[in-house]
Amino acid sequence: MRYLGREVEVEGIVRLVMESGLSARDRVGVQDFLLLDNYTSEAAFIENLRRRYKENLIYTYIGSVLVSVNPYRELEIYSKQHMERYRGVNFYEISPHIYALADNSYRAVRTERKDQCILISGESGAGKTEASKKVLQYYTTMCPTRNNTQSIRERLLQSTPVLEAFGNAKTLRNDNSSRFGKYMDVQFDYKGAPIGGHILNYLLEKSRVVHQNHGERNFHIFYQLLESGDGALLKRLGLDRTNPQQYHYLVKGNCPRVSSISDKNSWKVVSKAFTVIGFNEEEVEELLKVVASVLHLGNTQFGEDEYGETHLTTEMPIKYVSELLGVEGSYLSEALTHKKIVAKGEEMIGPLSLEQAVSARDALAKAIYGRTFTWLVQKINQSLAFQDEVYYTSKCSSVIGLLDIYGFEVFQNNSFEQFCINYCNEKLQQLFIELTLKSEQEEYEAEGIGWETVEYFNNKIICDLVEEKFKGIIAILDEECLRPGDACDLTFLEKLEDRLGGHAHFVTHKLANGKIRKAVGREEFRLLHYAGEVNYNINGFLDKNNDLLYRNLKEVMCQSSNQIMKECFQTDELTDQRRPETAATQFKLSLAKLMDILMSKQPSYIRCIKPNDAKQPGRFEEVLVRHQVKYLGLMENLRVRRAGFAYRRSFEAFLQRYKPLCPDTWPNWQGKLSDGVSTLVKHLDYKAEEYKLGRSKIFIRFPKTLFLTEDALELKKPTIAIILQKNWRGYRERAKYHRIRNAVIMIQSWWRGVKGRRRAKRRRQAADTIRNLIKGFILRNEPRCPDNEYFLDHVRFSFLMTIKRNLPKSVLDRTWPRPPPSLTEASVHLHRLCIRNLVNDYCRKIQPEWRNQLEQKVVASGIFRGQKDNYPQSVPRLFVGTRLENEEINLKVRQTLGTDNKVKYGVVVTKYDRHGFRARPRQLLLMGSGVILVQESKIKQRIDYSSLLGISVSSLSDGFFILHVPPADSKQKGDLVLQCDHVIEAVTKLAVMADKIHSVNISQDSIKFAIARGKEGVIDFTYGAELRVVKTKNGHLAVVRIIQSHTKPINHLDKILSL
Ligand SMILES: Nc1ncnc2c1ncn2[C@@H]1O[C@H](COP(=O)(O)OP(=O)(O)OP(=O)(O)O)[C@@H](O)[C@H]1O
Ligand SMILES: [Mg+2]
Repeated sequence: MRYLGREVEVEGIVRLVMESGLSARDRVGVQDFLLLDNYTSEAAFIENLRRRYKENLIYTYIGSVLVSVNPYRELEIYSKQHMERYRGVNFYEISPHIYALADNSYRAVRTERKDQCILISGESGAGKTEASKKVLQYYTTMCPTRNNTQSIRERLLQSTPVLEAFGNAKTLRNDNSSRFGKYMDVQFDYKGAPIGGHILNYLLEKSRVVHQNHGERNFHIFYQLLESGDGALLKRLGLDRTNPQQYHYLVKGNCPRVSSISDKNSWKVVSKAFTVIGFNEEEVEELLKVVASVLHLGNTQFGEDEYGETHLTTEMPIKYVSELLGVEGSYLSEALTHKKIVAKGEEMIGPLSLEQAVSARDALAKAIYGRTFTWLVQKINQSLAFQDEVYYTSKCSSVIGLLDIYGFEVFQNNSFEQFCINYCNEKLQQLFIELTLKSEQEEYEAEGIGWETVEYFNNKIICDLVEEKFKGIIAILDEECLRPGDACDLTFLEKLEDRLGGHAHFVTHKLANGKIRKAVGREEFRLLHYAGEVNYNINGFLDKNNDLLYRNLKEVMCQSSNQIMKECFQTDELTDQRRPETAATQFKLSLAKLMDILMSKQPSYIRCIKPNDAKQPGRFEEVLVRHQVKYLGLMENLRVRRAGFAYRRSFEAFLQRYKPLCPDTWPNWQGKLSDGVSTLVKHLDYKAEEYKLGRSKIFIRFPKTLFLTEDALELKKPTIAIILQKNWRGYRERAKYHRIRNAVIMIQSWWRGVKGRRRAKRRRQAADTIRNLIKGFILRNEPRCPDNEYFLDHVRFSFLMTIKRNLPKSVLDRTWPRPPPSLTEASVHLHRLCIRNLVNDYCRKIQPEWRNQLEQKVVASGIFRGQKDNYPQSVPRLFVGTRLENEEINLKVRQTLGTDNKVKYGVVVTKYDRHGFRARPRQLLLMGSGVILVQESKIKQRIDYSSLLGISVSSLSDGFFILHVPPADSKQKGDLVLQCDHVIEAVTKLAVMADKIHSVNISQDSIKFAIARGKEGVIDFTYGAELRVVKTKNGHLAVVRIIQSHTKPINHLDKILSL
């Protein structure tokens, strides 16, 4: 085979590895019988088995069928490491193993999602049950776990010991022989984790409950319970450990103990398994009560009285049975010795003979045990059931079925059970033929591939002989069971001879002749099974087939208070008029169902071979093995395999799996599938003899061709993985990018939306504002109303803000924003407030002297401002403390005044005589209590402030001022006419000190003054071109002043004073 590029080299290595591997294994025979040179030789076949067996190589393939030889010893090939080694490895790559087969089925379930089944066949003791346990162990150990599947694994595993305890027994052939057929589905979820299971059971060998052949035992559970059940429990169950021999049902085979069986250990395992499966203590107790009741029932003995009537000779056993099962003891006793017949609606009770009573008791024991076993299976099924129904029905799960069913049996004496068991094996052989030989041939034909005819025996004829409607053995047996009259086993045999005489596979003593006649007893019939000839003794066939339990026994059981019995015996059964199906028919129907189940799945086969009857390791008895090789059809199987092709796959599946190996088919083939497969195999350089293309499938002749293709695929996988990873990562990143981008766009659009809405809102508000302003402006002079309130508020606000920004900086700052008309009044108030505030501020900051100065100036302003012409000139000139220093006042005057009387203000004045108006220089001194006029050292006149009536000045710019005194005052010579250059200052100070501010009189034209003794003088004030003071002819004093222009205050003091 040629592969491209790197694979050429790789292929070489693979081939080398494989071939060296194979040859190493080939040293001990061949690991696959397909590789046998002489594949038609049975001897070569057996020799290969033998050689391998001697080397403890117990597994060999025939293609995909696994042949297993019982080693009878524990081999070191079932460890976890071994399981790991077989996981995911190609079926043919390493030495044959049951794990390879298990893994193969498992992988098919995972990759193809097709249900699988593993059919394990072989005779009793060949290792079927062990094989099924190994498979189950593999799945429960190696499959991935779901969150809650840990417990299901345990339950799957623990279901086996429980079923084995109740359904397995020691036989001559096998110390742990399964006495029932078992089909178990293991359910996997889509990830391949085991998630549930389901068990179907087939035909328990109930007769073993009441009878065992020599050297055999009853079912394990009886011995386990007696040997290891704790004392209190046994007491409750009425059992006695000390003497197991006392239980009749356990001693028939005379074999209570077996060295290979440890009932003690098994009891521990079973007890634990009960808990794992989910039995509560009561349920276990109820179950053991049933088990114990069977033992007690076996001890029930009967006797005949003198009238020939049957009665119970033992009391205790019945007492225990009734107690354990919760039934009325007397009813049970009566039911065991009498029978109730319902004829034409009337019930009749009749006594049973001794023999009948014994068989009624045994029938009851069998029925109780048999039904309990079925109940047990159902209970286990409940525990294994996958709970998530939705999940289950959504077809997400796949199953692998494990069929461990009794193998072909031939004893010295074969009865109804062997008949059923062998019939079952015929059916399985038929299925095998259907699924492999026949279907293989049909498939070749259907695919248009040349078929080399393989001779094989089709056992359908035997199946028909047993099961055919109306004609088959089962039909005849049923007919005989149902027919009225004296039907018995012998009449059944006669009928068989009658109907089936001449059939190639049916012989009886009567029908045969010569040698064969001797080999078949008179009460026997012989069937020529595909696997060999078996004589069946007809004794008991009818009874076993009828499997009848007297009606009154059923009635008693229906009243049981034991929970398990309640479920096993239900009253519907009593009212149901239909006759129940016979045992053989039931078995036939259940087998038909089983066949349907198996047909719907892809089968794998494990063919178990028992190397010797002595259960000894290393012993290979050729005769025994040859017999099994024959009846297992292994040679035919091999012939078919070698004649045909080792492997086939639908074009689609083949292409799907191997397409990465060819650039033309990778990643997808677009044309017809068959063309794709052709292209692929051409690229892989398949030789013409290695393969054939059918109509829908490719057939590959040699396994090796397939191995190499698989190996090439394995090598290619990393590359494919990289491509897939690359694409996946690209896809993931793109998806992530798109997600982010969309998120960004989304955020942007939202944000833009938010911004847009905000802008629109602002615009709307702006428009509203403008509109309000315009409306308000139009209506600004209207009274406040909703239409203009905004505008007015705005105007107010902005005016206030303008004021705030342009407040006057100082008291002299007269600037003030122009108010809008609506705020004129407020503006005035505010302005005043503001100025007051500034003044306040200013005032708080001024010094005391300056305050004094200002106070005086304010007084002067109050008196003179706007009244006297020379006032403005006086404003900028500061008032001084005094115009006369102390030294300038005559010492004598000072002495006269005394030190206490201090001069507060002194100024030089001109005094005009009241008569002649002569001007005389004088000093005017203001004292604390009055004013003094001084002429050098003389005090010329003193006027107390209290007697000062007022002060007169002219409105002109002269310096005259007159101090008025009361005319009646004798001490005074009349009013004092004075002239001073600092008239404003002097008068102000005088007015302040004398508290005569409001008594300063400013006259326009003339001032009258009092002269002593009621006379009065007048001073006229006029304007003239020059300054003059003269006495006029009318005796008035005329004061002429130059016209003064009114000048504005020139410094800030003027301003302050003008406020
Ligand atoms: N792979 C094995 N390794 C070791 N011992 C084995 C193996 N297979 C079978 N045996 C031994 O053979 C005995 C019988 O095997 P098993 O019970 O599986 O037979 P069987 O085919 O189920 O018989 P039956 O039809 O009676 O149930 C086992 O108890 C065990 O001792
Ligand atoms: Mg078994």
